[in-house]
Amino acid sequence: MKKVNAGITGTGHALPEEVITNADLEKMVDTSDEWISTRTGIKERRKARPDEYTSTLATRAARQAMEMAGVEAKDLDVIICATVCPDMALPATACIIQSLLGAKRAAAFDMAAACSGFIYGLTLAEGMIKAGRAHTILLIGAELLTRYVDYTDRSTCVIFGDGAGAAIIQPVEDGRGLLAARIQSDGDYVDYLYTPGGGTRYPASIETVTNRLHYIKMRGNELFKVAVRSMEEISRQVLDDLRMSPNDVDLFIPHQANQRITEAVAERLGLPLEKVYSNIHRVGNTSSASIPIALDECVRAGRVKPGDLLMMASFGAGVTFGAAVLRW
Ligand code: ACO
Repeated sequence: MKKVNAGITGTGHALPEEVITNADLEKMVDTSDEWISTRTGIKERRKARPDEYTSTLATRAARQAMEMAGVEAKDLDVIICATVCPDMALPATACIIQSLLGAKRAAAFDMAAACSGFIYGLTLAEGMIKAGRAHTILLIGAELLTRYVDYTDRSTCVIFGDGAGAAIIQPVEDGRGLLAARIQSDGDYVDYLYTPGGGTRYPASIETVTNRLHYIKMRGNELFKVAVRSMEEISRQVLDDLRMSPNDVDLFIPHQANQRITEAVAERLGLPLEKVYSNIHRVGNTSSASIPIALDECVRAGRVKPGDLLMMASFGAGVTFGAAVLRW
């Protein structure tokens, strides 16, 4: 039987129109453009309108990816929405996206792996394609983190933004597409980044709202160190799996968490910054959407070309981390 790989045949992304600049944040909390720029690399981020939801941004991104891949709604076997910002607690946002697209045949479900959602989803999609369970998979990373950000907490509100990125995953010839991927978690770090309220531990109540439990809590400084270490290690492991080294990588797209994290990981891997994509100054940290947004920008700008070796690496709440290497 002919061997197949899973490859990305189309990409898309969507960002809300409203821009929140560092100057806007200076008016809300005790911060400065200088602090935010030097500590995070972020200059501005996007914020969805009240009538925009995770599903509507996701659907915009999905339509672009489907158009690039030449795929129609009826062709979709599976829709995976990687998100920690679902439209509603129930049902899955992927089902709402399915309805908006009219993708009647698809199985649709969400995946909560925070910022690693796209790499986790890619790994899952690869398994389904290689097992013959699916042919055409729509994978979306979509987040409206500004809905969960506490605009009285200067340590988190400066970082996060809204956005969605999408990819179509299909069988491609052996030697192309996803060559290797690894995903991993460490649940001992749950309290480094979490939103306590609204689940079964602290169901929504007057008290949870009063105590601001529905907002993101983060131990940024500790998280920073875990992020750098785990992204470097898992990237090296994936390259080792392929008997490759960082020198073989043409383009590195890390999760856009913080420009200092990106630069520290690149330095440890010995990757020159010309090979490292960054858009965090424009979009902030968009969690699971960050890699597919960046990927779509690279594809449309010709920054990634057929035959290039592309590496992605992520790190997120959980903690979760992952890395993937693709031959474009
Ligand atoms: N403006 C001004 N001062 C601030 C701000 C702000 N926005 N935020 C924090 N500070 C202050 C702190 O209060 C502290 O003051 P103190 O020394 O008087 O106590 C000082 O700045 C230093 O704080 P640190 O937290 O040590 O600053 P650090 O250099 O670590 O930068 C940051 C903080 C940007 C959050 C950084 O730790 C970081 O980016 N961590 C990783 C966060 C991350 O990537 N999270 C997401 C990953 S997972 C995901 O993407 C879902």
